[in-house]
Amino acid sequence: MLFLYTGSCSPELYAAVVRPRISAAHPAFSGAWARDYAAVPAALRVVRGRHPASLLAPLTSAARDNQRVHMAVAGKLVPNGASLLQQAGRHPADIISAAEHDLYDAYFGVHRRLVCSLGYEAQLVRRLAQCASDITVHGLGPNPDGCPERFTHDALPLLTAPAEYLAAQQATTPLLRKELTT
Ligand code: HEM
Repeated sequence: MLFLYTGSCSPELYAAVVRPRISAAHPAFSGAWARDYAAVPAALRVVRGRHPASLLAPLTSAARDNQRVHMAVAGKLVPNGASLLQQAGRHPADIISAAEHDLYDAYFGVHRRLVCSLGYEAQLVRRLAQCASDITVHGLGPNPDGCPERFTHDALPLLTAPAEYLAAQQATTPLLRKELTT
C-alpha cells in the first residue's frame, strides 16, 4: 500500500520534480540505502530456513506482492526501468556505506533514537493518519499495470489496518500500556 501511495504521482511529475531532487542528493540514490531495509533480506532468509513452506505461505505471498507492487510503481514512474543506482554503474548487491545510510536518513529527515513502544506507536499512527487524509483528499490515481488485484480495492483500509490493530490492543491492555510510559 505504501508503494502505491509513494508512487501515486504522475510519471511526468516524477521525472520533472521528484527524480531530479533525489539524484541531486546523490546520483546513485537507492531505496536499498534505508537502514530499516538493511535487516530485511537476512531476517527473511532466517525465517525461511526455519519453518515449513506451508507455515510461510502468507509471508511468501506478501513478499511476492510487495515486489510486484514495487515493480509496477517503478514501471509506471520510470518506464525505461533503470534505477538511479544501476544507471550510476552500481549493483544492488554492492555493500552500502554508513555515509549512504546517513544520506538516506538526512534526505528523508529521519532522526534515529530509542523510543518507548508508546512513542513508536504514536508516531506510526500519526504518520498513517497523514497518509490516509492525503489519500482521502487526493486519491491514489489509477493503479499501475501489474499491481496485484488485492491492492486495487479497499486501499485505504489496508493502510490504516495497523492503526486499528494498535487501537484494539490499547483497549484490551490499557494498564500494561500505561506502565510502559512511567
Ligand atoms: C516511489 C517509491 C519507491 C519506493 C518507496 C522504493 C523503495 C525501495 C526500497 C526500500 C528498495 C530496497 C528494497 C528492494 O529492493 O525492494 C528499493 C530498491 C529498488 N528500487 Fe525502488 N522504490 C520506489 C520507486 C522506485 C522506482 C520509481 C524505481 C524505478 C527505477 C525503483 C527501482 C528499484 C530498483 C531497481 C531497486 C533495487 C536496488 C536499486 O537498483 O536501487 N524503485 N526501492
